[in-house]
Amino acid sequence: MENVRLSEDGTKVVILDQTQLPGTEVYLDLENAEDMYEAIRRLQVRGAPAIGIFAGYAIYCLARKHSDCDYQTFYRKFMEYKEYLNSSRPTAVNLSWALKRMQKVVEEQKNRPVEEIVCFLKEESMAIQEEDIQMCRAISEYGLRLVKDGDGILTHCNAGPLATSRYGTALGPILLGTERGMQFHVYADETRPLLQGARLTSYELQKAGVDVTLICDNMASMVMKNGWVQACFVGCDRVAANGDVANKIGTSGVAILANYYGIPFYVLGPTSTIDLSCRTGEEIQIELRDPEEIKKMFYERPMAPEEVRCYNPSFDVTDHSLIAGIVTEYGICRAPYEKSLKDVMEKRAKGERCV
Ligand code: MRU
Repeated sequence: MENVRLSEDGTKVVILDQTQLPGTEVYLDLENAEDMYEAIRRLQVRGAPAIGIFAGYAIYCLARKHSDCDYQTFYRKFMEYKEYLNSSRPTAVNLSWALKRMQKVVEEQKNRPVEEIVCFLKEESMAIQEEDIQMCRAISEYGLRLVKDGDGILTHCNAGPLATSRYGTALGPILLGTERGMQFHVYADETRPLLQGARLTSYELQKAGVDVTLICDNMASMVMKNGWVQACFVGCDRVAANGDVANKIGTSGVAILANYYGIPFYVLGPTSTIDLSCRTGEEIQIELRDPEEIKKMFYERPMAPEEVRCYNPSFDVTDHSLIAGIVTEYGICRAPYEKSLKDVMEKRAKGERCV
């Protein structure tokens, strides 16, 4: 399944609408800025790396509409689109990371005709997706070293191919190991309130022939206590310099439980998710979403009193002390994270190849 791609004629971004899964596989062609903004905000495209890939293609499609302008006008329009798309969701750093990367192209190529700059933008957007495929593959290889055949693995939210481009991050080692004939027993938290675990993770794993059991979020403690879980694998939306990790709401609870039961808790994500400008998780902005998601969404009728107050943070921060390792495309970072994260970022800055 291709979740994000550029249309054949390069004018639109084509996405698999994740809000309609698993019941319906519908592809949407997005051409204007408002629809692109809404696709991110409504989670039609979601998962930190996939949002970054989408943003690269989106800003290319929008920029090419102005290829006949002079550089100043083109740059002004480009920056307007950039700020607009960037404001759609605050927590996953991959969104601003991809948009900044595209901006760099526009600035570095400023002495060329605008039409040529647009061609460079297309190349860059495709490179973001290509690199993501390589990164997920490398993360999957490193992650596979952390588990053995027959292990039980608990995951939260969805960090599979739908949230990236191929393999995924947290699901990557599971899918790669399965391809190699290994067998894992995966426990997928349903992940309230938007049910990414139920709708997307269990769907992806079942399709790939993985032995997956769906559980409600409040059952994680029980399956851990039963001895059915040997490792927890989760994705990430932003990793601070000290190793604190923002990921889907409920992740920190899983980490606390895992520590209580002595189960290693691993975070898997590409270096594009590491944000060294955030010193700790305290500095990560957490997205607050519509209370209706808790009260009504996915129910046939409202499941809470109409006027009841709700608190609906979309992410939480897991303290670095609870994390056994952060698996990147350059290897597994261990505590102290200040040093190990800086090391992998230096490798990326030097343009070193991942495995
Ligand atoms: O709100 P979502 O569905 O975009 O949140 C996604 C997550 O929290 C994922 O676990 C994270 O982005 C990692 S995806 C490889």
